[in-house]
Amino acid sequence: MRPARPFSFPGIDQDVARLGRLLNLGLKAAAWAPTAPPAVLNLACGRADETGVLVETLAPRGAPLFLLGIDLRAAEIEEARARWVPARGPGQDLAFRSGDASRVDRMRQLPRFDFVFIRHQNFWHDPEVWTRLYRHALGALKPDGCLAITSYFDREHELAGACLRQLGATPVADLPHPASRRLNDAPGKSVDRHLAIFRHSP
Ligand SMILES: C[S@@+](CC[C@H](N)C(=O)[O-])C[C@H]1O[C@@H](n2cnc3c(N)ncnc32)[C@H](O)[C@@H]1O
Repeated sequence: MRPARPFSFPGIDQDVARLGRLLNLGLKAAAWAPTAPPAVLNLACGRADETGVLVETLAPRGAPLFLLGIDLRAAEIEEARARWVPARGPGQDLAFRSGDASRVDRMRQLPRFDFVFIRHQNFWHDPEVWTRLYRHALGALKPDGCLAITSYFDREHELAGACLRQLGATPVADLPHPASRRLNDAPGKSVDRHLAIFRHSP
């Protein structure tokens, strides 16, 4: 059954609405508008609560798009599929796949993407894996494409940005979240605390 409000889920709506406002600010600062229909890659997506924000920002008013989410955790991917595939509009192709997002270079039949998104990137969990993940995420972009990350922590955001710049990405927007919700499980942690957007010209 189609939900009353697409892409809504109990407990997440306020955070994703704030993320939507931040992403709109970031895209404006980056002077980037999606091509139609956009191909969107959401890496390390977990349950992909950001799906509605991506769809509504990059394919407004129910326009067509292709969105692929990838995460290591099969249970989270199953949950993403159950939550978000039923909310898609006509011409919107949403797919979720379990797998290693640092190896998109080895995934066959992937198109090039207009927009790669990584919400709450986790660089300091394993810098080697995340460096590889960023390298191949940049390699998966179309020439005019953008890669965006959000981060929970100031320092992790700086480290991820430095890594992306070292891989040849050019920052085109870097915004602290003006109304990020604090999380109490670690000092200095908050939801989508920073957003950065990069372009990459190989
Ligand atoms: C901090 S969570 C963010 C999840 C989601 N993007 C969000 O904001 O709610 C980090 C995610 O990265 C995933 N992850 C870590 N390494 C990965 C890899 N190599 N390939 C795919 N997913 C990975 C984890 O399974 C986890 O879901």
